[in-house]
Amino acid sequence: MENVLFEKRGHAALITIARPKALNALNSETLKELNEALDLISADSDIYCAIITGAGEKAFVAGADISEMKDMNVFEARNFGLLGNKVFRKIELLSIPVIAAVNGFALGGGCELALSCDIRIASENAKFGQPEVGLGITPGFGGTQRLARTVGVPKAKEMIYAGSNINSEEAYRVGLVNRVVPSDKLMDEVFAVANKIAANAPIAVQLCKTAINRGIQADIDTGLNFETEVFAECFASQDQKDAMEAFVEKRKVERFNNK
Ligand code: CAA
Repeated sequence: MENVLFEKRGHAALITIARPKALNALNSETLKELNEALDLISADSDIYCAIITGAGEKAFVAGADISEMKDMNVFEARNFGLLGNKVFRKIELLSIPVIAAVNGFALGGGCELALSCDIRIASENAKFGQPEVGLGITPGFGGTQRLARTVGVPKAKEMIYAGSNINSEEAYRVGLVNRVVPSDKLMDEVFAVANKIAANAPIAVQLCKTAINRGIQADIDTGLNFETEVFAECFASQDQKDAMEAFVEKRKVERFNNK
């Protein structure tokens, strides 16, 4: 892969969007490579948490690639939108939690990429925004849908209609990011969260993700029924047996085996 780096550190996978010449902007090639990296994660049952970040200190991702979009016709634009939405939905539906480590500009497709992750941790210099209307287009990789679901309709409408950026402090205030950390501590903090997640029973964590994501789109009774099903399913796992046995024997379970 040319524009996407993939590495494993323990039970965590790190995906880095690395197109420094364009502030990590997402062209079709990069989206396809990101898709490949997600497939590597899906195929590896030893990965319990993933992190997505951008190379360098200036940008997470500065958006979809404007140079590539400039001359697109309606048909090509639809395919580009479909590609971005397909890849970002795959992130959202990945069985394991995904953390966005937002290290600078997260604009347009960059903000949308962060929104498709489960948790967003931002550096102090991060900037979020959906500037698309200033380019004569709407957000195309989920911004109109996920931003409104994350920060609420009024704030999302203001950000999208005005196309103005918000800094990390405001992003925290409106609930767009989980926390803000000094830039030089970002990856340490993100890995600390990833490792904490990875130290818990993987099957239970993954079922939590599915239950939250499905339930949030459904009425409360459907959501609660789904929760009952995943709760029960945990009792078919060895990790549940080991953890509860350890508890009653007043010891800590040594490690979970994802079984
Ligand atoms: N697409 C293509 N190239 C981009 C880019 C993008 N989204 N963002 C930055 N670049 C390129 C610049 O063209 C520049 O290239 P050159 O050195 O070859 O000229 C290089 O990255 C560095 O950028 P700047 O010189 O502009 O850096 P800056 O510090 O002056 O400004 C910035 C930084 C404010 C992020 C500015 O680059 C910018 O406004 N970028 C565009 C942000 C944007 O509008 N994103 C939304 C895109 S539309 C979208 O994402 C649609 C969707 O939902 C699918």
